Amino acid sequence: MKIINQEQKEFWNEKKGDIWVSLEHNIDKMLGPLGDQAIKILKPKLGEKILDIGCGTGSTSQTLSKLVGESGLVTGIDISKPILNFAEKERESKKIKNINFIKADAQNHQFSNLNYDAIFSRFGVMFFEDPIAAFKNIKKSLVGNGRLTFVCWSKREENDWINLSSNVASQFLELPPKANPKDPGPFAFEDYFYIKEILIKAGWSNIKIQSYNENIIIGDTLDRAADFLSRMGPMSVPFENANEQTKEKVVSALKECYSKYFTPKGVEFHFSSWIVSALNN
Ligand SMILES: C[S@@+](CC[C@H](N)C(=O)[O-])C[C@H]1O[C@@H](n2cnc3c(N)ncnc32)[C@H](O)[C@@H]1O
Repeated sequence: MKIINQEQKEFWNEKKGDIWVSLEHNIDKMLGPLGDQAIKILKPKLGEKILDIGCGTGSTSQTLSKLVGESGLVTGIDISKPILNFAEKERESKKIKNINFIKADAQNHQFSNLNYDAIFSRFGVMFFEDPIAAFKNIKKSLVGNGRLTFVCWSKREENDWINLSSNVASQFLELPPKANPKDPGPFAFEDYFYIKEILIKAGWSNIKIQSYNENIIIGDTLDRAADFLSRMGPMSVPFENANEQTKEKVVSALKECYSKYFTPKGVEFHFSSWIVSALNN
């Protein structure tokens, strides 16, 4: 029997999972402002039950858990064991009672029907082989008037973190071949009309897609910025697998490139995302 999303399961459970955990602090600083804006739009209320798709190390689940309070509940779902282990340890050490985590694939996990008031995701819904099936599946878990809000990357060329970094890194590393732009991956949803088509076909209504841009500091020094982004995006695994000499060349070329973006606060990049909202009826 074919396992769905097998490539992504291998990817997030093997080297990438450990790299993601090791960068957790930096990732949270980078994605935080974009996720916070999406949470503002979702407007979680006290007592609500919220499903956090592709919850990663659990930082958004924690933010949501504060907003729904003790009478509410947040369920984080993710396919990655190493990443969820980290999320669970954090939850335990902070003694948070209103979060639970499920290791499962959101595309076909049998959620309890009519269970959640809202679904949220920060960059966790662009990795489905069959996005229409996935958005149909998660929809069943919502109560009658349930709502969805997620943030995903918009155009690659408007996102300095990936655009500049992969141009530099491709001179030294063999990056994964550029697949069909709509294949599972961080930029699968860069096309506004494609997102709309998926949600309409999956039966969602009241679909709103807004562009949200921010300038965000990705490191307070050139060294920290290059050290961080050399291990993000498509170059992360090729970089980890490279020899020391190649790594040094990549980092030094990244630093040179990033120096043009250095401000008194650190290296500042432009980020461009879509914040997508919809209702299930
Ligand atoms: C880019 S990371 C974002 C993580 C987290 N939401 C954050 O903002 O830090 C994408 C996450 O989605 C998870 N993921 C990918 N495909 C998934 C699927 N089919 N079902 C559930 N989680 C998935 C990955 O394991 C990974 O943790």
